[in-house]
Amino acid sequence: MIVILNFGSQFAHLIARRIRNLGVRAEILPCNAPIEEIRALHPLGIILSGGPRSVLEQGHPRPPKEIFELGIPVLGICYGAQVMAKMFGGIVRSGDAREYGKETVSFAVRAPLFKGFAKKEPVWFSHGDHVYMLPQGFHALASTRACAHAAFAHEKNPWFGVQFHPEVAHTKRGIEMLSNFIFSVCGAEKNWSIPILKDEMIRSLRDTIGSAHVVIALSGGVDSLVVASLLHRAIGKQLHGVFVDHGLLRKDEVMEVKKAISTQGLYDIRVIDAKNNFLERLKGIEDPEKKRKIIGHTFIHVFERAISYDFKQFPVRFLAQGTIYPDRIESGVGMPTAEKIKSHHNLTLPERFGFRIIEPLADLYKDEVRKLGEELRLPKKVLWRHPFPGPGLAIRIIGEVTEERLLMVRQADAIYIEELKKAGEYKNIWQAFAVLLPLKTVGVMGDMRTYEHIIALRAVHSVDGMTADWYRIPPDLLEQISNRIVREVKGINRVLYDITQKPPATIEYE
Ligand code: XMP
Repeated sequence: MIVILNFGSQFAHLIARRIRNLGVRAEILPCNAPIEEIRALHPLGIILSGGPRSVLEQGHPRPPKEIFELGIPVLGICYGAQVMAKMFGGIVRSGDAREYGKETVSFAVRAPLFKGFAKKEPVWFSHGDHVYMLPQGFHALASTRACAHAAFAHEKNPWFGVQFHPEVAHTKRGIEMLSNFIFSVCGAEKNWSIPILKDEMIRSLRDTIGSAHVVIALSGGVDSLVVASLLHRAIGKQLHGVFVDHGLLRKDEVMEVKKAISTQGLYDIRVIDAKNNFLERLKGIEDPEKKRKIIGHTFIHVFERAISYDFKQFPVRFLAQGTIYPDRIESGVGMPTAEKIKSHHNLTLPERFGFRIIEPLADLYKDEVRKLGEELRLPKKVLWRHPFPGPGLAIRIIGEVTEERLLMVRQADAIYIEELKKAGEYKNIWQAFAVLLPLKTVGVMGDMRTYEHIIALRAVHSVDGMTADWYRIPPDLLEQISNRIVREVKGINRVLYDITQKPPATIEYE
């Protein structure tokens, strides 16, 4: 396995993900993890991630120096390269020509790390500082216009530093570089795959939970369903769950989830119809964060009742959640430098239960969760449904959520998705949905003046929901969708198509 020491980079997980995709186990530890902890994992190599700090600051984070005594390869990326250079006596400076974004690197020396590279390659930079003078015993492998040591290595030991980020897509041969590092330099063998992960997760859940009981709230989404299925295999009858129908789901979703629950053979999952409860509490609420919080808390309320009454006789000690990695980044959890963008529904759950939280999917991205779901034999229809946020249609109705508005957005969404499926476009799109805008505009239908609502259509292409581009739906198809929505959904007389990327917009509207 490869250990990644995280210096606070949003990309640290991307490094782990790339390595896992290459078929090798990767574990992320905090940058100051004790050497005993690192040694206990028997890593074949260590990667020092990038990070937002500067080695020019007092008290900047450093890895334990003993990592250089383990006799294994070490690769420093960006901040990781700078801190390595600094620890061996090199000089780091804050660059005059600050290098950000795309750059071209010229490779001067052939090195196993860059096997298969051309003389010049496009790469991605994201840090102002650079290694100005290499420490003794190190030599440069590559440079850019402004940075003489864009990549460097130790003369004798397998220690490398790269100023650019191999883990991001903009570094064209980044994955090859990581592959060279883990296979050629570290000598790793493929030992990681979704079936292995599944077995390990089940085993580890069983170990953690022992004879205790676990409750889970199913939201209708893929993530919580995958967690429930894992738990079912790990602890069987010790799992209890509620599928809270908050009335904010897409068309046919309740039915499909119920079907998945029964085909998985989950023993004790109770379906609770809490539509009225949610709608009542959302009455008059327009603020997006308030909506998210109310929905989160109402979930808890419904859930608490289920625990107090339905599951009273069981020794419940754990609460399982379907939180996945991007939820954590965007909510700023565990990232002192990350800005909170939205309170993700899953994370507004207060911890006053006295239960321990288990989040088996916390390190995974959506595509990994879906593959895991396939491995668990969950129905394809549910797994490959576009992602859907915990707060459901409430955050796709701008302004107050009412029954009438829910009906409009649900119908428009169903038409949109039906047409995308018919045209064979649905599977090409990461996420497509309709949003009801709180505006009315004038139209004409037949000979009559109308004054009705607007539906915005969103369709995005994305790899993991972190960034997204708008999807180019063919104009004729858009026209067909627009015509049907205006004709079939009472209360709508205008349809708009959203062409904003993320960033600066988010995928959802609230
Ligand atoms: P945004 O709108 O933040 O969405 O660009 C990124 C991805 O996350 C989904 N999303 C959520 N998922 N609970 C979830 O489980 C939430 O509260 C939530 N909010 C947004 C969104 O649908 C998109 O796929």
